[in-house]
Amino acid sequence: MCAMVAEEVQKGLILPRSPEEMATSIRSYFIAKQSENIVGFCALHIYSPTLGEVRSLVVNERYRRQGIARKLVDSVLSEGGTLGLKEFLVLTYCDGLFRKLGFEVIEKSLLPDHKIWADCIKCKRFPICEEIALLKKL
Ligand SMILES: CC(C)(COP(=O)(O)OP(=O)(O)OC[C@H]1O[C@@H](n2cnc3c(N)ncnc32)[C@H](O)[C@@H]1OP(=O)(O)O)[C@@H](O)C(=O)NCCC(=O)NCCS
Repeated sequence: MCAMVAEEVQKGLILPRSPEEMATSIRSYFIAKQSENIVGFCALHIYSPTLGEVRSLVVNERYRRQGIARKLVDSVLSEGGTLGLKEFLVLTYCDGLFRKLGFEVIEKSLLPDHKIWADCIKCKRFPICEEIALLKKL
């Protein structure tokens, strides 16, 4: 998982996550496997009793365009829903996928401060961020 994250971080597509950070939050990840190999994953981060974030979505290049990301995001939303979350954020360059999943573009000024100071600050593009913020309400 760390190697898959590192590859996409290198391309500037997702935020860095250290092995320690991933280990600490490993229970928040949804994993897609093929023949026992991890081919994709996505994490649910919880900000408040009603707001969650879809983060660290990666699918191995060889397995893309087969609906794996869609299933992973659906799992995040479904689990979040059972926990009582009502809204889900995502910050991404891949807005096309999230629009297809019912997310709508929002102003980045609506992002929680915690996101900016805990996550965005680690990004090499901060503070000139071209990622698109989207929100889905259940
Ligand atoms: C983005 C990513 C996770 C998509 O994974 P995937 O398994 O190929 O996506 P899916 O097959 O589930 O696609 C779901 C829908 O989104 C569409 N889609 C997938 N990638 C897309 C893209 N880059 N741009 C626009 N639409 C896209 C698919 O066509 C599909 O639509 P359909 O059901 O109408 O055919 C994968 O390309 C990836 O790991 N990219 C690098 C990391 C990254 O950018 N992650 C997003 C960070 S939030």
